[in-house]
Amino acid sequence: MRRAIIAGNWKMHKTGPEAVQLAKELLNRVSDVSNIEIVVCPPFTALESVAWVLGEGPVKIGAQNMHWADEGAYTGEVAAKMLLTIGCRYVILGHSERRAHFGESNSIVNKKLKAALATSLVPIVCVGEKLGEREKGQTEAVVQGHVVGAFEGLSPADLQSVILAYEPVWAIGTGKTASPEQANEVHAFIRDLLKKSFGESLARDIRIQYGGSVKPENAASLLSQPEIDGALVGGASLDAESFSQIIKAVT
Ligand code: 13P
Repeated sequence: MRRAIIAGNWKMHKTGPEAVQLAKELLNRVSDVSNIEIVVCPPFTALESVAWVLGEGPVKIGAQNMHWADEGAYTGEVAAKMLLTIGCRYVILGHSERRAHFGESNSIVNKKLKAALATSLVPIVCVGEKLGEREKGQTEAVVQGHVVGAFEGLSPADLQSVILAYEPVWAIGTGKTASPEQANEVHAFIRDLLKKSFGESLARDIRIQYGGSVKPENAASLLSQPEIDGALVGGASLDAESFSQIIKAVT
């Protein structure tokens, strides 16, 4: 049985004090939740202060990006060990906004994934097609390219801790959600692909989150799909009440 994981991607929202406030409000609402992995991913500037607020409680902390190098002359970038030393446990990699606005290719995502896996960070690797690609019937090809590209050169043993997030780009921030069946279909496709390339046990055990306009109103129907193991939530994670409602929709 795969453990459900609900993660909030705060993107470029919340100053330090605002992030601390949101983390406190969330903690108040989910202090009794124990069977679900809960993660929040604030911007870099708020990671340390939010980590202090969350402590050893039920909400864990992740970053939205990292660089692949251990350290070096990479102005403006952040390395895995910098994240780890301030309490980060997860890192989002290959988000479609990074692919679209910052030129992140599959090979960059692959380098970052390898760097994260060399540490104890748990990577959340995002994949998903654009609207035009779906309309042209290219969903599976695009998703396959993202998964194979990100996982290149890694073995099933390497990939054990990895989480995938299927985020159709056309559903992000648009209010348009993939229907539960549409999402489940792509998740099943990914699992089948992993089975062929990496074997049955990785395909069975890997967790695949859905992301794209997940809200309290649609969370239960998405999360009840057999192949959907959680959600990666953008907009609705910026409000403690709606994010906690999504978490509670798992049970
Ligand atoms: P929204 O939930 O705002 O559509 O964002 C989804 C997302 O990109 C999470 O990473």
